[in-house]
Amino acid sequence: MCGIVAAVARQNCVPVLIEGLRKLEYRGYDSAGLAVLNPGLNRLRSVGRVAELAVQAAGVEAEIGIAHTRWATHGVPSERNAHPHISGGLAVVHNGIIENFAELRAELSAAGYVFQSDTDTEAIAHLLQHTLKAEPDLFAAVRKSMARLSGAYAIAVLKEGERRLIVARHGAPLLLGVTEQGSYAASDASALLQVTRSMVYLEDGDVAELSRDGYRIVTADGHPALRSVTESLLSADAVELGHYRHYMQKEIFEQPEALGNTLEMLGGAGALSPNFFGAEAPRVFDGVRSVLILACGTSYHAGLVARYWIEQIAGLPCSVEIASEYRYRQSVADADTLVVAISQSGETADTLAAVKHAKAQGMLRTLTLCNVPESALIREAALKFLTRAGPEIGVASTKAFTTQLAALALLTLVLAKGRQRLSAADEQTHLAALRHLPVAVKKVLQLEPEIERWARRFANKHHALFLGRGHHYPIALEGALKLKEISYIHAEGYPAGELKHGPLALVDKDMPVVSVAPNDALLEKLKSNLQEVQARGGELYVFADRDSAVEASEGVHVLRLPEHYGLLSPVLHVVPLQLLSYHVALVKGTDVDKPRNLAKSVTVE
Ligand code: M6R
Repeated sequence: MCGIVAAVARQNCVPVLIEGLRKLEYRGYDSAGLAVLNPGLNRLRSVGRVAELAVQAAGVEAEIGIAHTRWATHGVPSERNAHPHISGGLAVVHNGIIENFAELRAELSAAGYVFQSDTDTEAIAHLLQHTLKAEPDLFAAVRKSMARLSGAYAIAVLKEGERRLIVARHGAPLLLGVTEQGSYAASDASALLQVTRSMVYLEDGDVAELSRDGYRIVTADGHPALRSVTESLLSADAVELGHYRHYMQKEIFEQPEALGNTLEMLGGAGALSPNFFGAEAPRVFDGVRSVLILACGTSYHAGLVARYWIEQIAGLPCSVEIASEYRYRQSVADADTLVVAISQSGETADTLAAVKHAKAQGMLRTLTLCNVPESALIREAALKFLTRAGPEIGVASTKAFTTQLAALALLTLVLAKGRQRLSAADEQTHLAALRHLPVAVKKVLQLEPEIERWARRFANKHHALFLGRGHHYPIALEGALKLKEISYIHAEGYPAGELKHGPLALVDKDMPVVSVAPNDALLEKLKSNLQEVQARGGELYVFADRDSAVEASEGVHVLRLPEHYGLLSPVLHVVPLQLLSYHVALVKGTDVDKPRNLAKSVTVE
């Protein structure tokens, strides 16, 4: 989604703006732009990569500026629609959606403002210009204008003749970076690590004035706001590519370490404790009668795996809802339900709204599993658990997913123990399996060369089916999502038993069928389903366990994972599917880390 960088400094800030945009590229975008005062308003915009904007900006110097990467919502990707948008001597960049923009556009057009773009953002620029007529102070005018905007947004504004920037947020992320040399703002910390680790996270409704000497923040109703300064723990190296070709590849290979970090507390713990989920967890978990998981995309798939675990091991009814559906559905609330939000970014607009919806219905036992400290979802829930995967830059979620699974396994076991459903011996067995997980994943990664060979056979295909059963069915869904997302091959995940109820009609020699085939209680059932594919000339690619009784034959390719891993088997089995998608995308030559039309952080509905 759109990314914002803004700076007011004692020296030329254009390199900081450009480098900040580079760091935000992973969020997904289709055009980029910046506006600086030197001393008049100077705007540069380009469709395509930040690198092209950097070429245009070479030689431009200014001490104050705003910059933006745009992910198109209102209006096609084009230079005309790229930010910043201008009204008179004022420029605005914006992340989010202004829901009442059509009404504002009509009103402002009637007042004589001429729109140059199709964007909702331009309405903000003209609205501000209009407000300045009655309220000449820019800071006050931004506050006043915000009261007219509906929707979720973050904005940064500069104006000719001003030595300050005004930024504001309502429902979309924005943070400040504070240094002796100047003040900065950005959509996330990675853009500002180049200048500082001291970050101030703005809250909804906040408006901030930034000058090179400091900043001040007020709340929506105009009261001074004290927001704490947080030292970012994000390592600057963590967002570097190192020797890898792509972030996705790096992140797939970082999974053993990421899992180790997420489960670090188990190193010294001889037993499971609800306190892994915060000091308040014993109170929040006590008396829970069911679990409701809210998430989108890959995080939703993690939730689907957890449903099998939570029902089987903790004995609690568990439902998993796609957040964008749940938030508008009239469901039946139960105050004794534990509401679990899962999100890599912690800023996904639908998941955030879904949690707010659950809370509004009286469901206050909330827990967020998230990879980003200080994110909106972390702040929204009563309990939080940080997955500690490290920054995930590739749009396709990989290490975030497996660390979410690890966190969900831990949650399942803690709930089971709290309900006296876990014997002391089983607790120790599960703890040992969790501790061993990084090593087990490392072994799976060694399958890469063979998977690379398989990938070549997929590159000229247009469709693929992914099959799984039980808690590996969501892994099939995730494998299909990964493939379609980065290789643009149409792929569907199905529970293998459902094949004969429709999708079997699609199977022929041109339809590769990928199957997750661990050596579990459903293997024999799965094998019958695979025979149905084979009998119709389908080409099977089977990811089995070392001891799964599945043999390679004509049209049946088998790769074996080193060991069967029981409860945690989905964590292992998703890894070869991630590698498969990655290598298919490489063969196809797609933009692996920034697939077309997609964004990393989905901060709009
Ligand atoms: O940040 P979140 O985990 O809330 O994001 C949810 C989805 O947008 C995300 O998982 C998306 O499906 C990924 N690109 C999948 O790889």
